[in-house]
Amino acid sequence: MAVSRRAAAVKVPVEPAGSRLVIISNRVPSPRERGPRAGGLAVALQDAIRVRETLWFGWSGETAAPEAAARLVAQGPTTYATIDLAEADFRGFYRGFSNGMLWPLLHARVGLSEFRRSDLAAYMAVNERFAAALAPLLRADDTVWVHDYHLIPLGAALRALGVRNRIGFFLHVPFPPPALYECLPQGERLLRSFGAYDLIGLQTARDAGFLSDALAACGVARRARAFPIGIDPDDFAATARRSAGGRDTRRLVDSLSGRSLILGVDRLDYSKGIAHRIRGFAQLLRRFPQHRNEVTLLQIAPISRGDVPEYRSLRRELDELAGRVNGEHAEFDWVPLRYLTRTVPRNTLAGFHRHARVGLVTPLRDGMNLVAKEYVAAQNPEDPGVLILSRFAGAAERMEGAIVVNPHDPDEIAEALHQALTMPTEERLARWQSLRRSVWQDTAAEWARSFLAAIEVPREALAS
Ligand code: G6P
Repeated sequence: MAVSRRAAAVKVPVEPAGSRLVIISNRVPSPRERGPRAGGLAVALQDAIRVRETLWFGWSGETAAPEAAARLVAQGPTTYATIDLAEADFRGFYRGFSNGMLWPLLHARVGLSEFRRSDLAAYMAVNERFAAALAPLLRADDTVWVHDYHLIPLGAALRALGVRNRIGFFLHVPFPPPALYECLPQGERLLRSFGAYDLIGLQTARDAGFLSDALAACGVARRARAFPIGIDPDDFAATARRSAGGRDTRRLVDSLSGRSLILGVDRLDYSKGIAHRIRGFAQLLRRFPQHRNEVTLLQIAPISRGDVPEYRSLRRELDELAGRVNGEHAEFDWVPLRYLTRTVPRNTLAGFHRHARVGLVTPLRDGMNLVAKEYVAAQNPEDPGVLILSRFAGAAERMEGAIVVNPHDPDEIAEALHQALTMPTEERLARWQSLRRSVWQDTAAEWARSFLAAIEVPREALAS
């Protein structure tokens, strides 16, 4: 498939390469997202795939009796290939092992994880099914790039089918210290499957170090490397400027009646520390009463993985906590916390970020956290807000200029909020300039370019 003339005319941050790029991720962007409004991984990879023939393979998002061959849909230079999952596979592979066991383990929450041998079996079997459906679509010189914790054994499953292509793997979530990882029954089996990859990337040097140590301990001759993911900051800044003048942001600003806005935006996930954040905010209202009736925390937390039990109980906990904090602190003309569990479009959020005096990003553990970068990109350069960032977000490794907190201490969050809300303009400007440099340096385009440059080297240079 040839790269269209229109695509070739767009800015080209990634060198067009002769060979095809094959991306594999559990979620494949839905048709609605495959345009300019795409989110997450689709945004991160858009520059890479705009200029290069690409095959993007993954789960259709549907549960149905699976067919052996993938369904293909072409859109410009990209072909999307998807397969369905049988209901039992969805339960064992997605809900069970990926999100009931691996997700909490990788986020250092072993206490929340639940292991079942049948889930592990489904996880391995689905990876083999992905490999079997993908292998016939591969060409000899494709570069294969596998994404995230759902698909750790995919490289080994492809090798078992005789695939000899370059295969890279990127883990979007953190990796825990080896002593925690050891809690995973048959964990060595997964570690050994990393040996199939020519390049292994993680978000931070710290996580790459943990995985490298775990690999070394089980005799796998591979070192993981850090490739920090980012956003398209120019695009997000332009969206924020536009959206800030739009109807939704104006409605929000009017409704605040001059109060300062503190904004939190997260999937409703226990790794995001939303309850800790709300307790920190309540502590601000208690300890620094000058902010009472002067601030509003808007927490947007769209429901995620609602069929995994831990996520359902988190939702109940947050419903109760939000009600309690408002019951305790609200006045008849002021509600301190606005808590939404529905999705707000990314464009609208960009305008909200621009208006927020404080971006409150306090996960208990996060691979990177792109909301922190979006908050920075959205700011008005003449009057920027303040980013409060958890030290446990991967983003903290390279984002100096934020107020860094340990989210386990509500007093620390309260003090950081007070500092942010009273920060003099010069300090806000200086901190934002520093954050801006990092967000415009570690972009999505640079992430994809550097990973692909590291794997598309002569074969001899690839070994571990
Ligand atoms: C995280 C993971 C992604 C995942 C996303 C949404 O960002 O790293 O791999 O797709 O959460 O979760 P979901 O379970 O809805 O795919």
